[in-house]
Amino acid sequence: MSILFDDTSRTFTLTTRNTAYQMQLAPTGHLLHLYYGRRAEGRFDSLYLPHDCGFSPNPYELRDNRGWSLDTLPQEYSGTNGGDYRLGALLPVTEDGVWGADLRYVRHTIEPGKYALHGLPAAFDNGGEAETLRVTLSDPAAQVEVELLYGVYASQDVIARAARVTNTGAQTVRLEKAASLCLDLPFGEWDLLHFHGRHCMERQPERGPLMTGVQTVSSKRGMSSHQHNPFVILCDQGADEDHGECYGVMPVWSGSHKTEIERDQRGSTRIVSGVNDEQFSWTLAPGESFDTPEALLAFTHEGLTRLSQTYHRFLRGNLCRSRFSNAPRPVLLNNWEATYFDFDEEKLLSIAREAKALGVDLFVLDDGWFGSRNDDNGGLGDWFVNRTKLPNGLGPLIEQINGMGLKFGLWIEPEMVNEDSALYRAHPDWALTVPGRKPSVGRNQFVLDMGRPDVVEYLCDTLTALLRENRIEYVKWDMNRGLSDVYSHALPPERQGEAAHRYVLGVYSLLDRLTTAFPDVLFEGCAGGGGRFDAGMLAYCPQIWCSDNTDAVERLAIQYGTSFGYPASAMGAHVSASPNHQTGRSVPLGTRAIVAMSGAFGYELDPTKLSAEEKQAIREQIERYREIETLIRTGDCFRLTDPRGEHRIAAWQFVSEDRSEALLNVVATHPEGNPRPLHLRLKGLDPQAVYTVEGQDGSFSGAALMYGGWTLPPLYGDYPGAQLRLRRQ
Ligand code: GLA
Repeated sequence: MSILFDDTSRTFTLTTRNTAYQMQLAPTGHLLHLYYGRRAEGRFDSLYLPHDCGFSPNPYELRDNRGWSLDTLPQEYSGTNGGDYRLGALLPVTEDGVWGADLRYVRHTIEPGKYALHGLPAAFDNGGEAETLRVTLSDPAAQVEVELLYGVYASQDVIARAARVTNTGAQTVRLEKAASLCLDLPFGEWDLLHFHGRHCMERQPERGPLMTGVQTVSSKRGMSSHQHNPFVILCDQGADEDHGECYGVMPVWSGSHKTEIERDQRGSTRIVSGVNDEQFSWTLAPGESFDTPEALLAFTHEGLTRLSQTYHRFLRGNLCRSRFSNAPRPVLLNNWEATYFDFDEEKLLSIAREAKALGVDLFVLDDGWFGSRNDDNGGLGDWFVNRTKLPNGLGPLIEQINGMGLKFGLWIEPEMVNEDSALYRAHPDWALTVPGRKPSVGRNQFVLDMGRPDVVEYLCDTLTALLRENRIEYVKWDMNRGLSDVYSHALPPERQGEAAHRYVLGVYSLLDRLTTAFPDVLFEGCAGGGGRFDAGMLAYCPQIWCSDNTDAVERLAIQYGTSFGYPASAMGAHVSASPNHQTGRSVPLGTRAIVAMSGAFGYELDPTKLSAEEKQAIREQIERYREIETLIRTGDCFRLTDPRGEHRIAAWQFVSEDRSEALLNVVATHPEGNPRPLHLRLKGLDPQAVYTVEGQDGSFSGAALMYGGWTLPPLYGDYPGAQLRLRRQ
């Protein structure tokens, strides 16, 4: 049993293999958070000594105990306006003008399996892996009941959390805020590690100590965003890759998000994470419920690498529903950087022919195949083939490509519409536009109101027909701008605060229907590269295009940052042409392949323009990738260096779960004259075992390779790289 309730002390204890999580019902019925951390038996209520803290109020029943305050005790899910002045998790407003809630215990249940959420992606149970705790709290004055949901995955060391808020009154209730979780860490000095960025430079780690007050990681763009990934880590200030306490909070949510971290007057820390409450409100009619998105919590006392590996396994095994999540992926070639919008059937076929000769499995036709799409000014919304470019239609093109022995994949951007499109002309009210104001454009396009059931229905029918009528085995699902002018022509004025949230629910519903109807199609997510690289999208898409920046050296930093939360199997990564189209930098083909192989591998170049040597090298790369694909996709990832800053090398490793195989990857970002030795301590090997190292005579113990290390021969030239396989003897 991973969930226990002790009646005497009124304590809930959730236990995973290496962690414990404890809550207690206070005499008032408030649910106090006692502990989340390294696994330990016993109760943690002795940590909280009564202490009168000036200007922190006391519940009415405990007015004689001035040490007992909601403002100083750790809370499990804090309402607002009840005497806890720290960040609130919930803000309901009644028609009578009651703001906030003072939540007290009503009942709880413990059941096998994992709870599910309405219309939202959530982690699942493969059978006997999870248990669910539901704790119901309520405040009759606020007319709400809150069911706190805990999905405990004991052997994965993950606790999933969400909340279901129900209107129990006779009038409507407006939710101004409903977070997925509130987590109090009453003691400790923590660093915040978060992942910010921009288009073409996503998920750059930034770490710093928490200051007193509130720090926020958020997006208001209607998407999880290039600018701030929703995944955050709090770690102790001495923590590194191999040591130290680390907490991860991973929202399973692809829309506007907000994680706030507050260090309060007494030095304790509160994390509140969930849907961004700016430009959000949700009206609940009597009896209606609102489900928050889920957030995945993980803790380890063994450093950042272990935390990352916990998430990698969990996302692959318990979140992504696609059958491709745990299957080898096709090596693909995408025509975007080869042709951009400038192609015809002939050109595509010659690229595909050459791709096949290189050993590629799947040819992807990117943007420009539909409507009047000759540049990015028009066509979005019209998911019918562009007969000027492809006069024979998609079917014959696919047949010829299949005839070469290649699978076929297609790019779509369903959530968008161009002003210059048949769809927009027919349904201008399907776009998000504020009445009386011209909407702003992003890449010349408007955003469809995905919260409208008729829009989702239309897209579902159109895309279903596209996938039924054509042998499409891969879909790249793009989204090339954030939301603005958020106003739904299908919602009444008082519900406009729901539009951005309903948008994401509509995206999930469309993805759910299409991925369920077409389980053999591999869906890759994309949003101008990695602008929507989050666990919500990963529930449907086993891989996401990591960044529009395909420069291998820049990708070192992007993939490094991404790896803190997300597995290599989720990162779409391609070898592109040199000089690179985004940076103009030249990087050797071998190095470009090493970097791209640390993800879902492919090519993004014109193979008809390659030299004979380059073609031969690519044939060998693809053969090699097939040999090591399983190791990269399922192995544990170890970050050996931080590729940014003054480090001279980027180095990372994959190790198979049984430790029989490993792959060491190195790129010298700053080769030196009279070079100092390039020395690395390997990780994750079996210290007792003996390994051979590719290209090296003899064999070496795992202990020697990890504790002594490995010295690479000097690497010369522009961005040289090396990739070595290690095998247990
Ligand atoms: C986005 C994607 C690219 C490409 C273009 C096409 O930017 O990230 O990979 O598909 O759109 O317009």
